[in-house]
Amino acid sequence: MTQIDDVKSRLDIVELIAGYAQLQRSGGSFKANCPFHQERTPSFFVFPDRQSWRCFGSCADGGDAFSFVMKADRVDFREALHRLGARVGINVVSQQESGGRSRQLFEINDAARQFFQAALMTPEAAFVRDYLHRRGIDDRSLQIFEFGYSPPRDNRLLAHLTGAGYETELIGEAGLARETDDGRYYDYFRGRLMIPIRDWEARVAGFGSRALDDSVTPKYLNTPRTPVFDKSRILFAMHLAKEPVRQHGAVIVEGYMDAVMAHQHGFDNVVASMGTALTERQVDLVRRLTSHVTMALDGDPAGRNATLRSLESSWGVFQQRNSRTAQQPGTSVLQQPEALELRVAELPSGQDPDDFIRQSPERWTAFVEDAAPLFDYLLTSLVERADMNSADGRAWVAQTMLRFVAQIPDAIRRDMYIDELAARLSVSGEMLRAAMPAIARQSADTRRSEPASTSADAAAPPPLRDESAAEESLLALWLQHGQQLGPHALTLVSPEWFSRSENREIYRSVCAFVEAEEPEATVAPELETHLASLRSWELMVSNSDKLKQTWQQSALRLEKERLNEEIQQSASVLDAEELENLDSPVVIRLLDCTNRRREIDRLLGSTSPRQP
Ligand code: CTP
Ligand code: MN
Repeated sequence: MTQIDDVKSRLDIVELIAGYAQLQRSGGSFKANCPFHQERTPSFFVFPDRQSWRCFGSCADGGDAFSFVMKADRVDFREALHRLGARVGINVVSQQESGGRSRQLFEINDAARQFFQAALMTPEAAFVRDYLHRRGIDDRSLQIFEFGYSPPRDNRLLAHLTGAGYETELIGEAGLARETDDGRYYDYFRGRLMIPIRDWEARVAGFGSRALDDSVTPKYLNTPRTPVFDKSRILFAMHLAKEPVRQHGAVIVEGYMDAVMAHQHGFDNVVASMGTALTERQVDLVRRLTSHVTMALDGDPAGRNATLRSLESSWGVFQQRNSRTAQQPGTSVLQQPEALELRVAELPSGQDPDDFIRQSPERWTAFVEDAAPLFDYLLTSLVERADMNSADGRAWVAQTMLRFVAQIPDAIRRDMYIDELAARLSVSGEMLRAAMPAIARQSADTRRSEPASTSADAAAPPPLRDESAAEESLLALWLQHGQQLGPHALTLVSPEWFSRSENREIYRSVCAFVEAEEPEATVAPELETHLASLRSWELMVSNSDKLKQTWQQSALRLEKERLNEEIQQSASVLDAEELENLDSPVVIRLLDCTNRRREIDRLLGSTSPRQP
């Protein structure tokens, strides 16, 4: 969540605007004489459900809390953000300031990495090097993965880092030291094998560590969550695996040692999820490079239920990811990118990839190639576990599988899976279809009530923001292909169509910069994060003809979305007000909007192969 979202989510627009205008309830909304122009009958409305406002009178304008404050206080976006932040008790820091802190954290992590690596080479750590060799890790892997050792006593890292001029507070924030109740600091990692974890950009974000004695718990101890370390957003070894993944697809294993052993044997398209269920963010990372993903699961029957839960959540993430890509505006069925495909290979009982590769590296490639599509894998392994001769057994399999099917957003694909399931279980498709709604409701409830159940680290994927998808994908399209589209394209889109002020603001700067013939738009530092995420949106555009068409259609869709919102708003106002005079501005606006929407539908129908 960006700071902007954070501020928004704590604001109540009714409460805010009540400070500027005398609001009266009117049905589900509130009305007032417009604070922006003189009038005697109210044409200004606030809609709590969408947290928006609109003046149907001579302003003919509307928006969210930010645009209201910008207009009412005559300030720019940045100032409005700071004012509203202060109002809800959030100290808005600019990207530059927080970026500076992140840089320091990466830097101190790297200093710690060097310290641990050096410590591994001391005589005192000979037993650690022995341990690594006993596990079959060679010197080259030792270098590539930058293994290290954290001394067990005397807070030596802390002494080293403070000696090098780092403040204790930063050391603590990096998760390298902890503070006791009486305010003293001590080393967080003591007497452990240290494994630096680098992020997508190869910066040291944190550490994994392993106990060197089986009696010590926990076996694995990782850097706690910090501003630069979030296990659910990183895949271990990805910085080494990018090119191989692009070429051969990704293989995702569970553990650090599994990834290390794979790379040591030349299987360098292997990355590790670090023991948790795949998150949406991790899938996004892989998706930048490939659509072929294989999960290599440990063969331990004990962890089966956990595995099943984790697969259920990975499956959900993949389904959503696929449907989101398919819904990109302007992509027709024919141009749709290859769907992300998730397959599963399961190791023999009691083995993990580390063991398997050490024993028979020559069999790894075939093992990965033999992976089954997730759906088939699940069905097969459930059928193996259930007593298929009993009605209870078959019902259990059906119910478990339907939980997966229920997560497929696309009705046609859902239907195909149901047919397949029906065939495999020798029951009728109709019966399975009849059971679906209850199961869908049930699993949605479970997902809501125990968000942490799917991942050891309780990392819920960020909420989808569908309501702003159209405006954000249009912006992303310009940010990534603006050069080819040319300045004329901007004349098709009006800034007022963006309902989120941050998007509107970015679009305005884009226009200003194009007008001034500057190469690249810059925005207020507070918008940097949002801008960067739009720049990295994945867009599927095949050639420049299609690009223009995509832009035109996206522009029309955005305008239509804006009209729909106004139509909804004016309709709800009319409902509550029962206006008798037909020349009320609300009625006129409603008619204008409906006409224009009809026009847009006609245009979309003639340029697009399918109706939206
Ligand atoms: N893991 C973790 N924290 C834990 C347990 C596990 O981060 N408390 C992650 C680590 O990335 C670990 C992976 O989950 O590598 C798999 O855990 P496990 O199967 O227990 O470890 P192995 O890799 O098999 O460990 P080893 O072979 O070193 O015994
Ligand atoms: Mn292992």
